[in-house]
Formats: sequence, C-alpha cells, structure tokens
Amino acid sequence: MTERKAPVTTAWLRKQKQEKQPIAMITAYDYPTAKLVEEAGADMILVGDSLGMVVLGYDSTIPVTMADMIHHTKAVTRAVKRTFVVADMPFMSYHGTVEEGVKNAGRLMQEGLAKAVKIEGGSELAPLVTRCVQAGIPVMGHIGLTPQSVHQLGGYKVQGKNIAAATKLLEDAKALEAAGAFAIVLECVPEEVAAKISESIGIPTIGIGAGAGCDGQVLVFHDVVSYASEIQPKFVKKYVDIGRLIKDGVERYVSEVKSREFPTADHVFTASEETVAKLYGEGAKE
Ligand code: KIV
Repeated sequence: MTERKAPVTTAWLRKQKQEKQPIAMITAYDYPTAKLVEEAGADMILVGDSLGMVVLGYDSTIPVTMADMIHHTKAVTRAVKRTFVVADMPFMSYHGTVEEGVKNAGRLMQEGLAKAVKIEGGSELAPLVTRCVQAGIPVMGHIGLTPQSVHQLGGYKVQGKNIAAATKLLEDAKALEAAGAFAIVLECVPEEVAAKISESIGIPTIGIGAGAGCDGQVLVFHDVVSYASEIQPKFVKKYVDIGRLIKDGVERYVSEVKSREFPTADHVFTASEETVAKLYGEGAKE
C-alpha cells in the first residue's frame, strides 16, 4: 500500500489505481464534518451538490447555485490539510459557453480553494474539460445516473443496463479521459459495466452504486452516518446511526431544561459576595 503522508494529488490517485489500491471518497459540506472526515483517513472529499438535498432541504440538486457551492467549499477547504477536495459544478454553471464553464470552475478553485471540480455529463463536455485542464483546473467526470438530469432521465434510475447504453457510457468515459479528466464518478451503473469501464481507462473510476470493480468508492456523508437522511438507496451502507444519537442527546437536554435538572452548580458562574450584596441590597443572603 502507498503510504500517504503528503497531500493527495491527482498523480497519487492515478498511482493508487495502478497499484490496485482502493480510493476512499466521501462528501462533506462544512468545517467540522470535513475535519472529522480527514481525521478518519478519507483520501478525497466531494463537496457535492447533494448538499442541496441533505443540507439545504431541496428535493433535488437543481436549485443549488454557485454561491451555495463556493460557501460550502470554503468551509470544507478551511478544515483540511491533506485530503483532496473536489467541488461540484452546480446545475447550469457549465451548460452555456465553454468560457462561462471555465470561469465558474475557476471560481470554485480561486474562491472556494477546491483542488478540482466535478461535472456531470459525457463526451459532449470534452471541450469544456480540455479548456479547464489547459487553465490548470483538474476535472472529475460524472457519468451514469447524473442527478442534475433527473427530470430528463425520468427519475433516479440505474443507467447503462442495455448494450447500447453501456457502450455509450464506455465511450463517454474514454472521451472524458482523452479530454484530460483525472478521474470519473460512475453512479448507479451495473457492476459489470462499471468494471469494464474501469479496466478500459487509465484514470481512476470512483463508484457510487457501481460495485467493487471501480477504483474507489464515494458515498454521501449523511447516508453513511444516517444523519437525518431519509432515503437509503440499495447501494448505501449505514455505518453508524448518528441521527439517533443526536436525537437522544437533544431529547435529554430538552427534558432536563424543562425539569430544571439542567443547569446545575457545575454549569454556572458566580459573582463575588460584594457584587451580590450590592446587586440585591442588604439582607439578600438571609
Ligand atoms: O453530489 C454528490 O454528492 C455526488 C455524489 C453522489 C457522487 O455527485
């Protein structure tokens, strides 16, 4: 296994693939989570536009803006030293001209301090990927189920199930690699298709619902720790029920406030006797 003491780079990620060492990526959207995720040893953090759903309460990623992404990316990058932070380009931030896309990608790096950006789409995005890479912006592709196209796809469904769709995914992956992408997320793709793509390209594939044949895995933090995450798709593994722990803690706090068990002498500050005497007047202590 390649020891990682220095910050993760795109070259290190590629080496992980060559040495068949799995890459662990997880989302984070704020300072404390990013700090914990780095301490837990994640290689990469994705500031995903999934924040629209799990943090901001929208029912899709579509309402997420550049301002949202920059705000959350800044919080995450302030927290980490070694973890490679990728920020999602939100809906419509890269669907106009290539120049607009490059400008928005640059903002996520210059203002958010992300190390790279992620874009959803296939070969049609090759010109944008090439221009970003020429400008020094590492780009991660994202194919398969692309949540920003949920209304076009007709729902959150597994993609690439027939030979035509699987072949198109393979071609998209190759086009993204040729354009200069440093890695590709494969979301909700049959494991056989994901494995074929992974062995056909030289850059790492990071799977979510795409099986063990990918070079790495990514999951949404709130799903992994069960933090008020209402949906638990088949591909998610829940490692801890932090939502239950938070609820238990807050329930006990509310109950102790109402029963006056909290605060106790352990949790208060006291004024000097002189101050109390002046404040309450003579006989205050009797
Ligand atoms: O926004 C996100 O969290 C993502 C992952 C699901 C890959 O794009």
